[in-house]
Amino acid sequence: MKSTVIFRCGPCGRETPKWAGQCPDCGAWNSLQEASAPARAGGRYPRRPGPALDLGPYESAGPSARPRRHATGFPRFDAALGGGLLEGSLVLLGGSPGVGKSTLANQIAGRMSAAGQSVWIVSGEEERGQVAERLSRLGTPVSDTLWLGCGAEIDSFLEEASRKPPSLLVVDSIQTMTLAEALYAPGSPALIRMVTARLLGFAKRTKTMVLVLGHVTKEGTLAGPKHLEHMVDVVLEMEKPRAEEFRTLRVAKNRFGPTNQIAVFRMQGGGLAEVADPSAAFLSAQWRERVSAEAGRAGLASAIAMDGGQPFLVQVEALVGARKMAPGRRAALGVARSRLELLIAVLEKTLGVDLGFTDVYVSLLGGITVRDTGVDLAILMALGSAALGFPVPTHCVFLGEVSLSGDVLSPKDLELRVRQAKSLGFSQVSHPQTGFLQLRDFFSSLRAAAPARPARTAALKGTAS
Ligand code: TYD
Ligand code: MG
Repeated sequence: MKSTVIFRCGPCGRETPKWAGQCPDCGAWNSLQEASAPARAGGRYPRRPGPALDLGPYESAGPSARPRRHATGFPRFDAALGGGLLEGSLVLLGGSPGVGKSTLANQIAGRMSAAGQSVWIVSGEEERGQVAERLSRLGTPVSDTLWLGCGAEIDSFLEEASRKPPSLLVVDSIQTMTLAEALYAPGSPALIRMVTARLLGFAKRTKTMVLVLGHVTKEGTLAGPKHLEHMVDVVLEMEKPRAEEFRTLRVAKNRFGPTNQIAVFRMQGGGLAEVADPSAAFLSAQWRERVSAEAGRAGLASAIAMDGGQPFLVQVEALVGARKMAPGRRAALGVARSRLELLIAVLEKTLGVDLGFTDVYVSLLGGITVRDTGVDLAILMALGSAALGFPVPTHCVFLGEVSLSGDVLSPKDLELRVRQAKSLGFSQVSHPQTGFLQLRDFFSSLRAAAPARPARTAALKGTAS
């Protein structure tokens, strides 16, 4: 019989057939200890119960055989998923501690059970009383289809759940779960992977929708969610944008639907509420008044950015300091600094100004961070107007990506952006109508319009209204 000696890392539980000074998984030194492999009779791995072979013609796998999708009670979230949660899928909801994962999961559990689905919430973080307390604070109606289980041993729950599988199983959180046989250290990557594998098997076997919560640290490196993304069907990332009361939920991975969709929520006393028009919501009422009261303003320009398939209003504020003796500082809030530096270079060339010894600050109001290059033109309008002191009309939106040579290109989803701008009440939309225009053209039309009749009647090239 072959030798069954293996080496197991004390801290993380990684097993390897060869000894090494450092654990390949967690990086601990001198942590690998000789151990005997679990029942590997005759040098063969024990048979694991997997799904039985399912083979047949395409036509026989008709609509009735296909897994169904279920509404979560959050329609926009369902849309972002591609039509609700799919039976038998394993969904990982990751986010930093306190961002609102338990809140959302409990609300989904409450709404689905209210709709008649059987739901289990398994919590390794809180006691049953605490979970019930939160559910009641969230206004969850009493329901005998909603069960709460507290404890950390996931296999005992799965064994129990196998008898009469619920439609939805919520596991809060993956980091707190353990297995009956204490093979691995709590919270270790190997244990978390193994727990996830069990949950995946359970989901596929019983067609249960499994929603697993996972804490992600700032670096995103905490043992857990990042290691699991390849195993699960759907990865959701919950974040808190700079506008404190909002939460964004991004579909980072989706085996059965579109990715990079987002749903936006507002955190309120009674939990999370979906935001119907995120773009308008990010605009504070105060800000809206200010914008409609002013015809034009230096250093401020608006754009519509696309994020997760949705158009968002973005307002760019720029500050250009006085010339000084030392190289100017550059700071950007909501936009990458490298992008800002690039745009400053384009601006210098276009306007023939030298900002090398001038401080330049750019901040995106409205609380979102933007990677979309469709806001380039607005950033440059804000910067150029701050540098030269001419106003930008506040009722105008600028849409365009700017190349290094100063060409302005139409951004993707132009029509969607234009429609959103109009629905938000902007009366002018400025963008390169066909192909591209030069950045210079946008500036000259603004500057020509500025002194005589500020802003309101500014004749902008490429204006769609
Ligand atoms: P929680 O869902 O516990 O976060 P996570 O599970 O991601 O760690 O959310 C915690 C925060 O949400 C906490 O700061 C309080 C706030 N909160 C509300 O503002 N309203 C509510 O109704 C609830 C339940 C929580
Ligand atoms: Mg929690």
